Amino acid sequence: MTAHMKHDQPDERNVLDHMAQGIIGKSLDRPEGLLKVSGTATYAAEYVIDGCLEGVIVTSTCARGKVTSIDKQSVMSMPGVVDVINEPRMIARPAQGTANEAPEHKVGEIHYWGQPVALVVAETIEQARDAAKNLVIEYAPALAEFNPEDVVPEPQPDGTNEGDLNQAMEGADQCVDLTFTTEGHASAAMEPHAAIAQWDGKMLTVHASLQMLNYNIAELADALKLKQSQIRLISRYVGGGFGSKLGISEEVVAASVAAMVLDRPVRVVMSRQQVFQTIMRRSETRQRVRLSAKADGTFTGIGHEAVVSNLPGEEFAEPVTQSTDFLYAGDNRIMQIAVARIHRMTAGSVRAPGEAVGMPALEAAIDELAEKLGIDPIELRLRNLPDKHPVEGTPYSSRKLAECLTQGAKSFGWKKGKRTPRSRREGEWWIGTGVASAARVHNVGEAKARVTLRDDGTALVETDMTDIGTGTYAILGQIAGEMLGLNPDAVDVQLGDTKHPRGPGSGGSWGAASIGSAVFLACEAIRKELAGRAKVKAEKLTLKDGQIGTGKSSLPLTELIGGKSISVIGHYEPGAVEKNFVASGYGAFFAEVAVNHWTGETRVRRMTGAFGFGRVLNAKTARSQCIGGMVWCIGSALTEALHFDPNDGHLVNCDLAEYHVPVHRDIPDLDVIMVEERDPVASLIQAKGIGELGMCGGAGAIANAIYNACGARMHAFPMTPDKVLSAMPD
Ligand code: MOS
Repeated sequence: MTAHMKHDQPDERNVLDHMAQGIIGKSLDRPEGLLKVSGTATYAAEYVIDGCLEGVIVTSTCARGKVTSIDKQSVMSMPGVVDVINEPRMIARPAQGTANEAPEHKVGEIHYWGQPVALVVAETIEQARDAAKNLVIEYAPALAEFNPEDVVPEPQPDGTNEGDLNQAMEGADQCVDLTFTTEGHASAAMEPHAAIAQWDGKMLTVHASLQMLNYNIAELADALKLKQSQIRLISRYVGGGFGSKLGISEEVVAASVAAMVLDRPVRVVMSRQQVFQTIMRRSETRQRVRLSAKADGTFTGIGHEAVVSNLPGEEFAEPVTQSTDFLYAGDNRIMQIAVARIHRMTAGSVRAPGEAVGMPALEAAIDELAEKLGIDPIELRLRNLPDKHPVEGTPYSSRKLAECLTQGAKSFGWKKGKRTPRSRREGEWWIGTGVASAARVHNVGEAKARVTLRDDGTALVETDMTDIGTGTYAILGQIAGEMLGLNPDAVDVQLGDTKHPRGPGSGGSWGAASIGSAVFLACEAIRKELAGRAKVKAEKLTLKDGQIGTGKSSLPLTELIGGKSISVIGHYEPGAVEKNFVASGYGAFFAEVAVNHWTGETRVRRMTGAFGFGRVLNAKTARSQCIGGMVWCIGSALTEALHFDPNDGHLVNCDLAEYHVPVHRDIPDLDVIMVEERDPVASLIQAKGIGELGMCGGAGAIANAIYNACGARMHAFPMTPDKVLSAMPD
C-alpha cells in the first residue's frame, strides 16, 4: 500500500503535536551513536571482502591539455600489480547535476590539475600506491586560465533588476558601496571518498560514501551503461559529506569499472590529498554590495553582484545572492551572478552553497550602513523586514528572524546604543561584539519510505535515505515512534541501501523535512488501518507505549495487529506550496571577539546563535547541527581558504594540516537558542532544514565584531592576522 501526498496546501494540523507518545522534539541519543564512538559502525571502506583488490587513482599533473600516452608496461612487472585501467567511462568526470548534464569531457582531455587519469589495481594497497607513483604518463599541455580576475565573467541569465539602484544610491541619505572577497572552500569531510565494488556478472554491489543514493544510482547506471536494477548502492554510515558526496565521483566509477573488468572485488579509497585536489570546491567570490537608505534606516535599494568561477561548461554557479533576494526591503534591487571560466577543479555545492559566503558580505555591509546612519544594527534590520517578498509579493511561510534577533540579543547581553570601536581593551587585546542575521532557503525533495508495524508490536522504517552525521536514524525513529505509540528503541530504522524505497538523499538541508514527511504519511495510513480494525475513527485513536486506546477501552497493540503486520510506503511529493510561499530558515548570530593589537590575531571568545527552523524533531541532534554550522562560521571567518599556485594551477594546501578548519582550541562555548516555530508550508511535519542555516551569516557577525573591537573594517575573508593588522587604524 502507498500513502501519497503532494504538498499543495499548507498543513496546519500539526498532527505531531497531538500524539500521545511525547518523544518528538525530545533530546534523545542517536541509536547508532554507540557504534560510531566505539569504532564499530562500518564505513564504506571498512567491509572485509574476500579476494578484494586495491585500486589507487592516478591524477593529472597538468591543469589542461591531453593525455598522450599511459605506459602500462612501466608498472605491470611491479610486485602485485594486476592492471592499469583508463577506460573513458571512468575518466569522464560526472559533474554535479545528473551525469547526463555533465559537459562532454572528451576521452583523455584534462581540465584541471588533479583530474583522475587512470586506476592502478594491485593485490595490496602498498603495491597499488607504489605502482601508481611509478606509472609513466605523457601529457600535451595546453594554455589554461587559473585566475578568475584574468577572465571576463559570463553573467547568469536569471538575475534581478528592479527599479533604479543607481538613482536610489544618489538620492539616499546614507549608502554603502563595498566589495568583499571570499576564498575557495573545501568540504573537508573527515571520511575520505571510498568505494568497494563487487560484480557477479549480472549485479553490481557498491559500498560507497554518498549523500544521495536515490540519484547516485542513476548517475552510476548512466556512467556504466547499466540498468538501475543491476546496481545496489549501500551507504549506511557517512563520515560527513558537506556537499562533496552529493554526486558520485571517480572512486565509485573506477572501482565499479575495475570490478567488472577484472571480475574481482575492488576497493578504491582516495587519499586526503586526492579528496582536496579532485573533489569539487566552493568557488571563491568577489561580491559588490550596495545599500541605500533614508535617514530613518528604511532601505531604498539593495545591490548584490557576485563573480564566482567554475570550469568551462559546468552549470553550477555559487548562488551567492540566494537569500539577499527575499530578506530585506528596498524597492530598487540588483542581484546578479557571473561566472569566470577557469581551470580549477569543478566548483559545486559545499556547506550551504550561496548563503555561507553571500550572507557574511551582506551582513557586514549592513553593519557599515548602521554605523553611518547612527542606528543600532539590530534595530536597522528590524526596520527592514518586508511583510512579503519584495519583488514577487509572495508571502513568507513563517519567519522568526525578528524573534531570533531580539531573543538572541537578550541572551547574549547585546548593548543597544552607540557602538564605538576600540572601547574595550584587555592588555594587548581589543574586545568587541558583532551581530548578523542568518538565512538559508528551505528545500524539499520527493521522498519514499516504507514503514512496517510488525506483529511483535515493533516497527521497521526502510528507505535509501542517508544519515551523513545529521541524525536521520534518530529522528525517523522518533517520528515513527510518536505516530505509532512506540518508544524509539522499538523502531528499527534501516537506511542507506538502494534496495529500499527512494528517499530524498541528504543535501541542501532538505533531508529531515522530506523523508520525515514520507515516514509521517506512512504512519498516518497505518493509524487509519488500525482504527479500521478497532472500528473507531482514526482521530479517536490513542497510541502509547505499545497500547492502543479507542476512547472506551485499551488493549495491547499486538492484539489488534493479530499476526497481520501492516506495511505502507509513504510517498511525499513537493507541491504548489513551494512556489506560493517563500520558505526559509532564519536566525541571528552574536559574536564577541578579542583582536590582538600587535599581531592582528582574532580569537572568538563567545558566540550565540538563535535559530528558527520550524519544528525541532530532536533537540540534541538539532542543536549539534547549529553548533556545527557556527564552527564553520568561525572557520570561514578566520582560517579557511584554498590556495592555488598561480603558475600551474595546482591546489597548494591539500590536507587538513594546511587547509585550516577550526580545531577544538579555536572554538569557545557556543550558545544555541532554538526558537519555537511550526511551519505548515515547509513540510507535513512542520519542520524546516537546519543543517546549513547555522553557517549562513556568522562570519559577518565576526567581521562586525572585529571592527567594533579594533576599528579594522574587513572586506576579505578569511580575516587572517595579516589582513586584520593592515586594516587596523594606527
Ligand atoms: Mo549540501 S552542500 O547541498 O550537501
